[in-house]
Amino acid sequence: MQLQLENVNYVYEPGTAFEKKALTDINLGFEKGEFVAVIGHTGCGKSTLIQHLNGLVKPTSGRVLFEDEDINAPNYNRKALRGKVGLVFQYPDHQLFEENI
Ligand SMILES: Nc1ncnc2c1ncn2[C@@H]1O[C@H](COP(=O)(O)OP(=O)(O)OP(=O)(O)O)[C@@H](O)[C@H]1O
Ligand SMILES: [Mg+2]
Repeated sequence: MQLQLENVNYVYEPGTAFEKKALTDINLGFEKGEFVAVIGHTGCGKSTLIQHLNGLVKPTSGRVLFEDEDINAPNYNRKALRGKVGLVFQYPDHQLFEENI
């Protein structure tokens, strides 16, 4: 697998009244050149999952591997990774354009 999630769990705002478990024990792999669609009802964790793929969000526990290397390891070059694993956010217009100059 080129890109792999191993036992990934993610909790938003742990230890607060807003604590929310978004991902539970996710194991998933992507081969180079593969097309994968992730489908699920609103709030099921799709965006949270995707943001793990280039290290924008770090798993609360578990690992994300790119070419067998842990992308959240202290010395891993995440800047270089983001040149290879790109994200388009849910509202691409908001990513590209601002309302004010
Ligand atoms: N910044 C945040 N702080 C706290 N909870 C959050 C945050 N972002 C998402 N959540 C919660 O985590 C869960 C997963 O949200 P996520 O945005 O990953 O779902 P989604 O599948 O992308 O939903 P949608 O189809 O609406 O885009 C939801 O219960 C959501 O309310
Ligand atoms: Mg979403």
